[in-house]
Amino acid sequence: MLTEREKLDTLLRLSVELGYSKDLDILMEHILTEARRFVNADAGSIYLKDHETLIFSYTQNDTLQRRLPPNEKLAYANFTVPIDQNSIAGFVAKTGTILNIPDALRLPATVPYHFNRSFDEKVGYSTRSILTIPLNTAQGDVIGVLQIINAQDENGNVIAFLPEDELMFIHFANTAAMALERAKLTRDLILRTIKMAEMRDPQETGAHVNRVASYTIEIYERWARKKGSDEKEIKEKRDVLRMAAMLHDVGKVAISDVILKKPAKLMDEEYNIMKQHTILGARLFLDGHSDFDRAAIDVSLNHHERWDGKGYPGHVNVQTGSPIADYAGPDGQARGKTCDEIPLFGRIVAIADVYDALTSVRAYKEAWDEKRVLETLAENAAKQFDPELIEIFFSCLDFIHNIKQRYPEKPHL
Ligand SMILES: [Fe+2]
Ligand SMILES: [Fe+2]
Repeated sequence: MLTEREKLDTLLRLSVELGYSKDLDILMEHILTEARRFVNADAGSIYLKDHETLIFSYTQNDTLQRRLPPNEKLAYANFTVPIDQNSIAGFVAKTGTILNIPDALRLPATVPYHFNRSFDEKVGYSTRSILTIPLNTAQGDVIGVLQIINAQDENGNVIAFLPEDELMFIHFANTAAMALERAKLTRDLILRTIKMAEMRDPQETGAHVNRVASYTIEIYERWARKKGSDEKEIKEKRDVLRMAAMLHDVGKVAISDVILKKPAKLMDEEYNIMKQHTILGARLFLDGHSDFDRAAIDVSLNHHERWDGKGYPGHVNVQTGSPIADYAGPDGQARGKTCDEIPLFGRIVAIADVYDALTSVRAYKEAWDEKRVLETLAENAAKQFDPELIEIFFSCLDFIHNIKQRYPEKPHL
């Protein structure tokens, strides 16, 4: 059990930590784990608001978890609850007030809400004490509901939630709501941005970006395990990297149609403008400070760098696009980054993007056959690509083929 002092410390730490969390799922896991730890609660759930309903979005339950084999995840259905006075979560979302129920099986006859026992009956669980807190944004909108179930004393007996914990939870929920709102906005924005990039450059299809992102995280995971990274770090990086990889060519939204859709080969001048998509893409994320923003910059800026230093845009200042003083070549141009100067995520996406472009039909070419593509990649190890990553790529070809089948190109109309 946490002491009052520890609870306060946790609150302070969380208000910083939650602000940095980027992915919605990881954030919900974090919020619920900490909320339960506050009061030694056995279970809990998060509902997110979608129009007039609450979507049951995330849950944890130690008792049910213990019945599963190790490493198995708790499966749950994404059911919805209307925002009205009939259910406990619905009531809290509707009224925006916290609800502390000492015993769900003995609700007073005067309350409008009911406890729905069907979930407990299905899984063999017994919900007794429930603390349900609205997740209010700074603007006062309810974006969801946090529900903590079965507080326990030191001996594991279920007890009621203390009234003095309510205030602590209101603070906690405010922080959590802000972080959740931010993560939701980020996710929506990414999905919209990808749609926009697809409209501008028909070659950057949803299928292409999904394949590139999936190849990328497959390679990353293997690389990270080989280097002995811990599982928590791998899991967190996977999520940001997946989103960042999807956005590798997002800078193309700022390139003129005349160049983007030119049916013939680009003139030197036009090609130089096209190359700017790396810097323009990275610039979109400069204001952000999350791991995702950093990953998106790494990917956008560096996915056309080459291991041998002949790629672009090289050592440039993202803000201005001009060469970084110490890294300009004799011609005044930015020197290309080489080897480890290229951030890991850029080196991985470079391989994933080229592999996918070569094996796909493009406006200017047929799809190459697999053998020719693999030969080209192998020949370019230590020239265009990081040789260690190429080796990792070849070690997981079965997975790569599997991904390719999972995201087939839709036939062009
Ligand atoms: Fe690109
Ligand atoms: Fe691409």
